[in-house]
Amino acid sequence: MSPKIRILTGITTTGTPHLGNYVGAIRPALAAASKPDTQAFFFLADYHALIKCEDPERIARSRLEIAATWLAAGLDPQRCTFYRQSDIPEIPELTWLLTCVTAKGMMNRAHAYKAAVDQNLTTGEDADAGISMGLYSYPVLMAADILLFNANRVPVGRDQVQHIEMARDIAARFNHLFGNNRVYFDLPEAVVDEHVATLPGLDGRKMSKSYNNTISLFAGGEKKLRESIARIVTDSRVPGEAKDAEGSNLFAIYQAFATTAETEAFRVALHDGLGWGEAKQQLFEHVNSELAPLRKRYEALMARPDEIEQILHQGAAKARALASPLLAQLRAAVGLRTLQSPGSSKLGKQAKKVNKPARFVTFREKDRHFHFRFLAADGEELLLSVPFEKPQEAGDWVRVLSKAGGTSAFVWGKNSLQVVPTEHVGGHAYELLYSGECVAMGGPWSEAEERDIAARKLVHEIEMLWRKPDLDESVAVAGST
Ligand code: TRP
Repeated sequence: MSPKIRILTGITTTGTPHLGNYVGAIRPALAAASKPDTQAFFFLADYHALIKCEDPERIARSRLEIAATWLAAGLDPQRCTFYRQSDIPEIPELTWLLTCVTAKGMMNRAHAYKAAVDQNLTTGEDADAGISMGLYSYPVLMAADILLFNANRVPVGRDQVQHIEMARDIAARFNHLFGNNRVYFDLPEAVVDEHVATLPGLDGRKMSKSYNNTISLFAGGEKKLRESIARIVTDSRVPGEAKDAEGSNLFAIYQAFATTAETEAFRVALHDGLGWGEAKQQLFEHVNSELAPLRKRYEALMARPDEIEQILHQGAAKARALASPLLAQLRAAVGLRTLQSPGSSKLGKQAKKVNKPARFVTFREKDRHFHFRFLAADGEELLLSVPFEKPQEAGDWVRVLSKAGGTSAFVWGKNSLQVVPTEHVGGHAYELLYSGECVAMGGPWSEAEERDIAARKLVHEIEMLWRKPDLDESVAVAGST
C-alpha cells in the first residue's frame, strides 16, 4: 500500500516462451518485482500482438502459454498486478487521447516503422506497402500502457528504448497542454539491464523466434529440452582437445544457469578437454534442475486454463480500479465532461460527481462533532474521519493529508500513513492510520475484494493529490449536515 517504485512491462503474446525470454526478461523481471520497495505491473500485450500476427489460433494459444509461464516462473498475482491489456478498456481509450497529442513526425522516426519502409524501398515496393496503422501507431499504444499506471520504470530490451522516450515525450506534451498546474503523468524511464546477457541460440546468433534457433522453455517437456540442447552447434574439437569457453554459445547458456563458481569450473573443464557430448549432458542437468519444478507448475496450470482466466480477471479488476479514476480525470481534462444545466439540480448533482477532482469535505455531525470525508473523483466516499472536537482539527488533518507526501517526509508505510484492512460488523472495511493511530475509516463493503479495490483507489487518489502543486481548490468545506 505504499507509493513504491512502480515497474511495468508488457509481454507481446505471439510466440511460445523460450530460454532466451526466461533469462533475458522473465527471471530478471520477477527478481525486480520481489524487492520490497517495488510495485510491479506485468501484462500480456495482446493488442500489440495483433499488430504482428494475423493468426487467431496462435494469438489465443500464446496468451495462455505466456500467462502460464509467468505464473509458473513465480509471479505472485497477489503481490503484482498481472492482467491482459485487452481486458482494460481504459488502455485503448487513453491511446486515443494520446494519439491526438502525438506528433506524426515523431512516429515517422520510429525504428520499427522506418525499418519496414527501408525494407520496402530496397525491394522496390511502395514505401508503405504492407504497413498497417497498427504498426505505425504502435508506440502510442505502448505509451498508454505505461502512462495509465504512472509507471516509473519500464524494464525492456534495447530495441524498446526509443518507445519509452516517445512515451515520455507524449506524457510531457499531455501534461503541458491539459495539466493546468497538474502533473497527470510521471515520466517513465527505460531500464535496460546491462548484466542480463542476451542468450545465444542453437546456432550462436541471438536466441530468437525469427532465427528459428530457440530452445523452448517448457513446451515439449524434459525430452524436448534434452533434444534441443543436443542440437547446439559447437566447433569440431574432439574430446581431449582444449576448448575455448568464451567463443562457445554452449558455455554462454551454461553461464546463465550456473553460479560463478560452477561457471569457472566448467570453463576449466572445457579448457582441459571436456568433450562436447559430455558438456551438453552437464548443461542439460543444470538447466533442467532449475526448470523442472517450474515445468511441473506450468503443466498443472496449462491443464486448468479457467483458473488462469480467473487470475487474469482479478488482475484486471485491480488494474482497472487504478485506471478508471485516472481516466475520468483525463477525460475531464481534455473537455469530455458531463453536460450541466445550471438550474437542473438532479443533472447538476450528477455532473458534479463526475467532474470534481478527488476532494476532502469537512462537516459537522448532528452530534456536534466535526469530521472530514474524502471523496473520489467519481464521488465514491473513500474515508470518513473519526470525530473531532474542534473544526480546526478536522481542517488540519485535511491539510496534512492533501499536501504532504511526494518528496516531503510524509509517506505510506509503517511509521506514517497506513491503510489497514479491518473486519467490521457491517462487512469489510479499512482504517487509515497515522503513526498507528486511526484517523479515518472506509467502508464497510460486503466483499473483501470490493474493499481491497477501494483501498487501492484511496491510495491512488491521495497520491494524485500529492502530485498537485496547489490543492486548496480541492479542499471543499461544507456546512453542517
Ligand atoms: N513492445 C514491447 C515488446 O515488444 C511489449 C510492450 C507492449 C511493452 N507494451 C509495453 C513493454 C509497455 C513495456 C511497456 O517487447
